[in-house]
Amino acid sequence: MPQNASAAALKALTDWWEDMGVPADQAEMAALMKASQAAPTGVSAAPKPAQTAVNPEQTGGERKRRRSKSKTQTDWIAEAGALAASADSLESLKAAIERFDGCPLKELCEKTVVYDGTLSAPVMVLGEGPGGQEDRIGLPFVGKAGQLLDKMLAAIGLDRKTNTFISNVNYWRPPGNRNPEADELAVCRPFVNRMVDLAQPKIIIATGGVAAKTLLDTKTGIMRLRGSERPFETPAGTSVPMVPMFHPAYLLRRPQDKSRAWRDLLLVQARLKEMGVEV
Ligand code: URA
Repeated sequence: MPQNASAAALKALTDWWEDMGVPADQAEMAALMKASQAAPTGVSAAPKPAQTAVNPEQTGGERKRRRSKSKTQTDWIAEAGALAASADSLESLKAAIERFDGCPLKELCEKTVVYDGTLSAPVMVLGEGPGGQEDRIGLPFVGKAGQLLDKMLAAIGLDRKTNTFISNVNYWRPPGNRNPEADELAVCRPFVNRMVDLAQPKIIIATGGVAAKTLLDTKTGIMRLRGSERPFETPAGTSVPMVPMFHPAYLLRRPQDKSRAWRDLLLVQARLKEMGVEV
């Protein structure tokens, strides 16, 4: 791709990669975006994300409001906390997340992607955040990576319809499928905590480094986090064993690591059996 490729071309390319289940290379996309923004007059430059105007008519009809500049990041985190605390069911939490305008990613994507699966499930899967397909459809893990996730879960008797709840640590698709940034994850965190408090799963599977590191508040990478269980604790006192696992999109690129993911799945299965959970 030429260095002055347009933002539209970059988006088309990353959407295509995403549809194939391959996340965009972060460093390469950042470099291409930068080059496209610095393109000389006459060459279409990528719009800066904060300046992108979103017309609700073109975004699946979801109500969109630009993140108010009069509030600080601390204000937004407090607002997320208050909204999350006032939700007394997973359904009302979903509505609260959809109403929340404090994540800068919201105005750049199509849909707020909250959860899918069985609300009272013993197993909760938490991923990194929506990709292209998820943003179009409004449900987590529905692209190629999601299809692999479904197959992995099925191998130990888990599925969305009966015993598994699926969500993410971020509810809005980052542009170009880059990783969500710390401030974006921080405003989602009160909702993630409340989701765990309300769902009370017996076990959490964290898929991929971003989800595992965010949930455990650590810089340790997935290579070292996977392979054993760690407690996930919410400020309200819920404690759930969590098994970090490779992200299915990573496994699509590195199928040779599937045996390690299989071992992690067997760990989940053994822990469920130990806890007397029939799946
Ligand atoms: N990857 C994720 O981490 N979550 C999704 O919902 C889809 C892809």
